[in-house]
Amino acid sequence: MTATTDAPRPADEPPAPAAASSVETTDLSKQYDTPMGLAHTTMQALKDRIKLHYDLASDYYLNLWGEHIHHGYWATDEAKTNDSKEVAQVNLIRLLLTISGVAEGGRVLDVGCGIGGTSRFLASQLGCTVTGITISGKQVEMATRLTKNEATAASPAEEVTVSPDADGFLALGKGKVRFIELDAEKMGEFFVSDAGRFDAVWISEALSHFPNKALFFNNAHKVLREGGKLALADWFKGEGLADKEFENDIKPIEDGMLLPPLCTQQDYVKFATDAGLKVIGGPKDISKDVSKTWDISWSLVQNPSLWAFAFSQGRDGIAFLQAFRAMRRGYANGSFRYAVMAFEK
Ligand SMILES: C[S@@+](CC[C@H](N)C(=O)[O-])C[C@H]1O[C@@H](n2cnc3c(N)ncnc32)[C@H](O)[C@@H]1O
Repeated sequence: MTATTDAPRPADEPPAPAAASSVETTDLSKQYDTPMGLAHTTMQALKDRIKLHYDLASDYYLNLWGEHIHHGYWATDEAKTNDSKEVAQVNLIRLLLTISGVAEGGRVLDVGCGIGGTSRFLASQLGCTVTGITISGKQVEMATRLTKNEATAASPAEEVTVSPDADGFLALGKGKVRFIELDAEKMGEFFVSDAGRFDAVWISEALSHFPNKALFFNNAHKVLREGGKLALADWFKGEGLADKEFENDIKPIEDGMLLPPLCTQQDYVKFATDAGLKVIGGPKDISKDVSKTWDISWSLVQNPSLWAFAFSQGRDGIAFLQAFRAMRRGYANGSFRYAVMAFEK
């Protein structure tokens, strides 16, 4: 399906709330406005579209966002004033480490690993042995290339081995890392011979893409050893939303960001405990300390070539950029939430 530039805003779409409206609409975004809320069932399989999105957009993510495709965390007023997006993104990883107790030197499965920013951090800074999985083959390629570059840059004067070992791992700092193209919903079967052998499962802003959340928690339980940790950061809808809040704020996010229905934080706790995991951290709602990400992102995407690219990708590309406004609106209204949490087997 292809978007048209002159598609009108639906007559019944309410105006954006006053607090957010002055910053969320620009000439560029108005030019490409598109109706929201088409059900995923009317389009091709959601997972194929997610894979296609990351195959096509990951070069842009790297150029605009850097190696981490997740929010930044600005915990204090001082941080909000001083910390760059890149520093804040690493601080989100540090927060997850603190609440989960994922330890140095462990064997980690990074589920929905993007272009490997977190996997590399855990390998190089904590000496972990990290397997990153992503549905996007393009991301595997990019993550592998970035890892080789980092390994080479870290020891320019020495003889650096950047070829993989027998299990496909590349040495990085004190640890090592490898990337595999895999639909995470198949990880239970794929890692069957590794059942009970991972010290940690890490999942940052990926589970909201998965259609079957309960399956993920069951699989995490399968691959973790006794005492192993699950560290999780994700996007949520608020508890008890009115229909109107859901339609105005959450629906366009689900639609544009290629998400099956969003869950609440307590939904995840229930899935996890039903799977036999114990809560050890959170849920810690950090919405107010991450929302700045979308102020930065919105200014970053005011770039005509990016909108032209999105437009060339048809309806999904435009809906994706349009969802940025909904993210800001959802955070401002409190209907859209961000939280971290940790579990133990
Ligand atoms: C927002 S990015 C987060 C990337 C990374 N975790 C980070 O924090 O930088 C979402 C990731 O989830 C992955 N993903 C989505 N659905 C997936 C699936 N079914 N199986 C594996 N990966 C998936 C995407 O390929 C992408 O890498």
